[in-house]
Amino acid sequence: MAEAFNDITLSADKATRYAEVADEIASVLDGEPNVTARMATVASMLANSFDHYFWTGFYVVDPAKERELVVGPYQGSLGCLRIAYGRGVCGAAAAAGETQLVPDVHAFPGHIACDSRSASEIVVPVFGPDGALIAVFDVDSDKPAAFDAVDQLWLEKILSATFG
Ligand code: SME
Repeated sequence: MAEAFNDITLSADKATRYAEVADEIASVLDGEPNVTARMATVASMLANSFDHYFWTGFYVVDPAKERELVVGPYQGSLGCLRIAYGRGVCGAAAAAGETQLVPDVHAFPGHIACDSRSASEIVVPVFGPDGALIAVFDVDSDKPAAFDAVDQLWLEKILSATFG
């Protein structure tokens, strides 16, 4: 019972913080059209808002390659440089165009272990103004099952407001 209460309290706190940081991001980026600057700002502000974020950043669609992502702005330890569509969690999000919520990365077929401390992750596809995929946003945690529907809802909201 106490545990369930704590979960609900934490979720409410988390949603409140997401709502605040969404406003802060919109205000910092007001009038800034550069996509790299927008991605760098989103990664920095989100990474610095939540304790459960361990690696936070973008893998961007590489226009020079067929169905391949290349690392973009991020916060955290060294990330791998390139990920083909369909490979790992990021590649699955790019191929499906849908958010991947992974409570245990070790149970995900083909997970790419850039940092062995990663235990769970969420990857959200990022669409541009014309509706085409431009990137995926990847957040890893060093704690298992760190992300839930609250993270998914707010990340999808923030990313579509910032890049759509
Ligand atoms: N976890 C990702 C790879 C990228 S890194 O974690 C920075 C994946 O399997 O898609």
